[in-house]
Amino acid sequence: MKKAKKVSIIFGTRPEAIKLSPIILGLREYPQFESNVCVTAQHRELLDQVLSVFRIKPDVDLDLMRPNQGLSDLTARAISALDVYFKQYQPDLILVQGDTTTVLAASLAAFYHKIKIGHIEAGLRTWDKYSPYPEEINRVLTTHLADYHFAPTGWAKSNLIREGVPKERIFITGNTVIDALQIALKSIRNHQPDITGLTKSLLNRSDPRPLVLITGHRRESFGAGFESICQAIARLADRFPQTAFVYPVHLNPNVRKPVFKILSNRKNVHLIGPLSYLPFVALMDRCILVLTDSGGIQEEAPSLGKPVLVMRDRTERPEAIKAGTAKLVGTDSNRIFKSVSNLLTDPRAYAAMVNRKNPYGDGKASSRIIEILKRD
Ligand code: UD1
Ligand code: UDP
Repeated sequence: MKKAKKVSIIFGTRPEAIKLSPIILGLREYPQFESNVCVTAQHRELLDQVLSVFRIKPDVDLDLMRPNQGLSDLTARAISALDVYFKQYQPDLILVQGDTTTVLAASLAAFYHKIKIGHIEAGLRTWDKYSPYPEEINRVLTTHLADYHFAPTGWAKSNLIREGVPKERIFITGNTVIDALQIALKSIRNHQPDITGLTKSLLNRSDPRPLVLITGHRRESFGAGFESICQAIARLADRFPQTAFVYPVHLNPNVRKPVFKILSNRKNVHLIGPLSYLPFVALMDRCILVLTDSGGIQEEAPSLGKPVLVMRDRTERPEAIKAGTAKLVGTDSNRIFKSVSNLLTDPRAYAAMVNRKNPYGDGKASSRIIEILKRD
């Protein structure tokens, strides 16, 4: 019998864990793969929340997160720790997802060991090296280290071709986040999760109060950008006292400081802890619109028919903008205030952004990726 292919799935943050969980669960079904889950734990609490939802226990946990970690420091520690892991486990192939420090460090360390690299969510680009920072450069570099490029959309594929990646190494698969979202939706339909800090009645779809869901964490917005975002939310909360503004705040201290300084003590602003995936999906399903700088949420929200206002100047996910379900609003306080106000007061503007067709996937991305790996 042919020897099983040794596949290491390597990740470190919340979004990577969400998007790789369907692959990890899928690979277990096939005896032709011996899979090994290695987490850098670039995130600790946010990662563990996802692992427990999908009931995944890592084989190796490098436990790298430090408070307020710097990019160079984390990258250096991740490369060193992964180097030791590769020496010991010696995989035939690694799978990485997206554009985090973990992705770049794992790809570089794997390349030094001449281990093959599969890059999931390949080909996203803004062509601005500082936006998102440092993710744009992380993904460009990863592209040039990778052997398999799993592009979520045709647009992502065309970006890779422009950079000289051979066509036969690029596979359009859809984004695995939709696979994860479908698993989550099935689960919350059977059991509506509780959320600490929010009443059951606010979570109920029949509650008449509109609910605006907010998240933010981008490094390029630290400082003035976050102050401005929070000022906009404060003004919105005052103008719309009957609307609930629910903000699960990221654990990054650069985010928490301005958010709690500016937004504490407003009755209709609910600052809560980062949510585990199932309650977060339940909130997305309940809300009227999402105000965010998150990549994953831009991909998920169209499946739930929720308009997304993206608090960034650029996005590497133009498909939803084109489809009309997402809009770039930057971090300028007046622009955010006006854009949210418009959607809350103009039913026609709101209806124009509701469309349940999702350009990012159909829930079958992970099985497509696994089929491609089985063939090779
Ligand atoms: C990282 C990714 C970004 C992704 C984001 C998802 C890079 C370069 N950036 O952001 O692409 O969108 O994660 O959220 O890899 N912290 C905790 N507990 C946690 C997680 C974070 O306390 O579970 C705090 C720590 O102080 C940590 C800090 O947040 O040092 C920053 O974490 P880090 O992963 O470095 O965040 P970003 O690089 O901003
Ligand atoms: N998410 C979550 N809990 C939260 C906020 C977000 O589970 O409190 C999920 C969200 O549904 C999406 C992912 O986390 O799948 C996005 O992560 P994040 O915004 O941190 O990173 P990005 O996608 O911007 O890289």
